[in-house]
Amino acid sequence: MKPLPLALQFHSISILLVIFATFVGLSCGRDTVTPTRPLADNDTLISPGGDFALGFFTPAASSNNRYLGLWYHKIPRRTILWVANRDSPVAGSTGLLSITSTGVLTIADGRNASNVVWSASPAAGLASPVARLLDTGNLVVTEDDGGDESGTSTSYAWQGFDHPTDSMLPGMKVGVDQRSGLNSTVASWKSDDDPSPGTVHASMDPRGNPELYIYSGSKKIWRTGAWNGVRFSGSPDSLTYQGGFSFSFVNDGDETTYSYVISNKSIVSRLVLREADAVVQRTVWLWESSEWSVFWYAPKDPCDRYAACGPYGACDPNSSPLCGCLVPEPAFAPRNPGNWALRDGSQGCARRTALDCRNGTDGFVTVGNLKLPESENSAVDTGLDLVGCRAKCLMNCSCTAYAAANISGVGAGAGA
Ligand SMILES: *[C@@H]1O[C@H](CO)[C@@H](O)[C@H](O)[C@H]1NC(C)=O
Ligand SMILES: *[C@@H]1O[C@H](CO)[C@@H](O)[C@H](O)[C@H]1NC(C)=O
Ligand SMILES: *[C@@H]1O[C@H](CO)[C@@H](O)[C@H](O)[C@H]1NC(C)=O
Ligand SMILES: *[C@@H]1O[C@H](CO)[C@@H](O)[C@H](O)[C@H]1NC(C)=O
Ligand SMILES: *[C@@H]1O[C@H](CO)[C@@H](O)[C@H](O)[C@H]1NC(C)=O
Ligand SMILES: *[C@@H]1O[C@H](CO)[C@@H](O)[C@H](O)[C@H]1NC(C)=O
Ligand SMILES: *[C@@H]1O[C@H](CO)[C@@H](O)[C@H](O)[C@H]1NC(C)=O
Repeated sequence: MKPLPLALQFHSISILLVIFATFVGLSCGRDTVTPTRPLADNDTLISPGGDFALGFFTPAASSNNRYLGLWYHKIPRRTILWVANRDSPVAGSTGLLSITSTGVLTIADGRNASNVVWSASPAAGLASPVARLLDTGNLVVTEDDGGDESGTSTSYAWQGFDHPTDSMLPGMKVGVDQRSGLNSTVASWKSDDDPSPGTVHASMDPRGNPELYIYSGSKKIWRTGAWNGVRFSGSPDSLTYQGGFSFSFVNDGDETTYSYVISNKSIVSRLVLREADAVVQRTVWLWESSEWSVFWYAPKDPCDRYAACGPYGACDPNSSPLCGCLVPEPAFAPRNPGNWALRDGSQGCARRTALDCRNGTDGFVTVGNLKLPESENSAVDTGLDLVGCRAKCLMNCSCTAYAAANISGVGAGAGA
């Protein structure tokens, strides 16, 4: 066969270039939904940096329910991170995401837009609303004033990050906002093909010295232990995290929240609650082997089990039996010696010597290497050091123990 004339060869190269440019243009996608441009079932929003995609999906072949979900755009294995309409799928049809002229987000049946299955309304109506997928994966509703598009603003008319599904992404907060009354919780998917809330959920108890709990139904199964200024007192292993992750706990009267950020852009990680084994897992994506890896999880050992050794009990996973009393006999003794002998420590220990309180003969015993006890009834005074905290606790007959609430720096106190 004769070689093609030079001009024609050159021509085919330019056609290839044009096709390539068009392809790149399409894959960039758009990141906004406006009242005049809804998102159809066959379309996706892509965050400006290309890390996240938002679109409709069906969780399992057995179902034809459509959900609006968020996933990592650059990771070949589709991993759903957030679901808008987890309780209310579009049944057996195609979905449509729209925003009304006042900023109400709606998900409707794509073939009958008046069949709205889900909606989210900002507190106040907007003049020129836009829904935007940010680089963090947060879907936000804001005024389309051409202003802040950086994703750094914290005041959005509505944001998906206020309503986590089963995953905590970097920048998402779990906890309570006392100003707005918002209570952000996380709940597992009911099953692999049903994103509606399962039995495993996590929420913040903002009372006393606040901490996060994981529940299975109404039963507490794990608690993080109070934040001690550096980490949760019940998760010492979080200190083994190498660079990249930073954790934040805010308890300033305006909010009681936990969040984390990852400064290294090549680390892709989330915390996820799993229904099947009732655990919280931190997974990381391994780019080389193209798979998810479990980086951390809880609960881990038998002592992580909520109240494993009951009140005044202390659990040591390296000892047999696991349970001991916080202070050994004769000061404390097992509350139910029969069960204790059968290695059921759940009823804990009881004080055997009465407190003298006002007569000034009481003192304290130091017990170390323990998760702080549940502290919803404790009082935190960040203005006190440990010596001041001890004195205040000694003067109060209903105060039985004290500890540093913040171990970084000098250590401010908490009493119970
Ligand atoms: C989605 O489907 C509609 C109607 O079938 C079509 O007009 C549109 O081009 C499609 N959009 C994409 C991004 O495929
Ligand atoms: C569209 O949905 C609305 C609301 O559910 C319903 O009342 C109406 O009958 C539907 N129309 C059609 C053509 O199915
Ligand atoms: C937050 O919601 C969770 C789950 O519904 C609930 O268990 C918890 O008590 C709530 N916390 C507050 C402070 O309202
Ligand atoms: C970011 O993480 C990657 C993968 O773990 C690592 O190779 C790289 O050195 C890290 N970069 C920085 C600045 O820490
Ligand atoms: C204080 O000491 C007195 C005399 O020893 C005793 O009777 C009293 O019960 C003590 N008070 C308390 C609160 O233990
Ligand atoms: C804990 O103490 C450190 C050092 O004194 C201080 O910088 C930090 O703000 C404190 N944290 C809290 C939550 O009070
Ligand atoms: C005594 O301690 C209890 C429990 O920590 C606390 O609720 C109470 O306010 C304290 N009373 C005084 C007078 O400080």
